[in-house]
Amino acid sequence: MNDADFDALASAVDERVQALPEGCDPARLFGVRLRPNGFFLVPFWSGVERLVYFVLFPALLFRSLAQSPLALSDAGPKRIASVGGTPRIDLEDVNLFLPDGTPTVETKHLVLAEGESVVLSGPSGSGKSTLFRAIAGIWPFGAGEIRSTSVTRIMVVPAKPYIPISTLRAAVTYPAVPGTYSDDDIRGVLADVHLGDLVNELNREEVWSQRLSSGEQQRVALARALLMRPDWLFLDESTSAVDEKLEAELYATLARRLPKTTIMSIGHRSAVVRLHQRHLEMRPEGDHFTVGDSAEMVAAK
Ligand SMILES: Nc1ncnc2c1ncn2[C@@H]1O[C@H](COP(=O)(O)OP(=O)(O)OP(=O)(O)O)[C@@H](O)[C@H]1O
Ligand SMILES: [Mg+2]
Repeated sequence: MNDADFDALASAVDERVQALPEGCDPARLFGVRLRPNGFFLVPFWSGVERLVYFVLFPALLFRSLAQSPLALSDAGPKRIASVGGTPRIDLEDVNLFLPDGTPTVETKHLVLAEGESVVLSGPSGSGKSTLFRAIAGIWPFGAGEIRSTSVTRIMVVPAKPYIPISTLRAAVTYPAVPGTYSDDDIRGVLADVHLGDLVNELNREEVWSQRLSSGEQQRVALARALLMRPDWLFLDESTSAVDEKLEAELYATLARRLPKTTIMSIGHRSAVVRLHQRHLEMRPEGDHFTVGDSAEMVAAK
């Protein structure tokens, strides 16, 4: 390496180090320093510095985590893998909170059976999306137990899906690694969700979230679900931007193409409720909401 190369490398290292907050200097953290005349790593710490970094900092960090009401490792309802029996998801005494500890959703006992098609409705802000996140294991504030078979693959499709700035191929297959799905499969699922006009644009790089309408973006997310074939598919108002006729066709396509997938939806419109066998409702109870079968369904039984 000549002097010019070394200078370039040294200034690149300096930029990185300066961008870090004080106390995060990697050279200090690892107890080594790059010598300007070569690449020897030499220890430079004094005994006091070692005491601070290896004893005092870890001790303070441990103390603050131990005092935290929700350490991440055991945050949220306990997720328990059940063995044998019919695949289903059981929620037992699940209480969900907001990050500040305010209670939001409570379910004493709720069973979602494999193959059952369930729709959840209720007032805006009652905690429907939060409940879906908790079932998928991505809501860390709560208590209780959620049991499902350990091999269960759960996919949540939000109303506003993330669409990366990329080729259409990568946008449809996100977040899978490139090459996971063949172009023929990708074209097939695009046609299934009524985006057949796009099948010749797989290589086109575009800000797809600006070019596609909201309903088209929702259909890209459904195309992902068709490719990924989860065991449980949670549709969180995933068809809210498409017209009711197309919505019914999309649900029929999902049922036909994913016969082994259990679909659970959140929906406000009566049209989406009619596309499901079971209707759950969020009901206000004191300062939170509970989940139960809808009044009409219970009366009909
Ligand atoms: N990350 C968060 N931090 C703080 N509060 C949150 C967070 N996520 C959701 N909430 C709050 O939790 C409550 C329930 O939100 P949630 O999104 O589950 O409602 P929802 O029933 O899905 O409503 P909508 O029908 O409008 O989608 C709301 O009051 C919301 O503001
Ligand atoms: Mg919601």
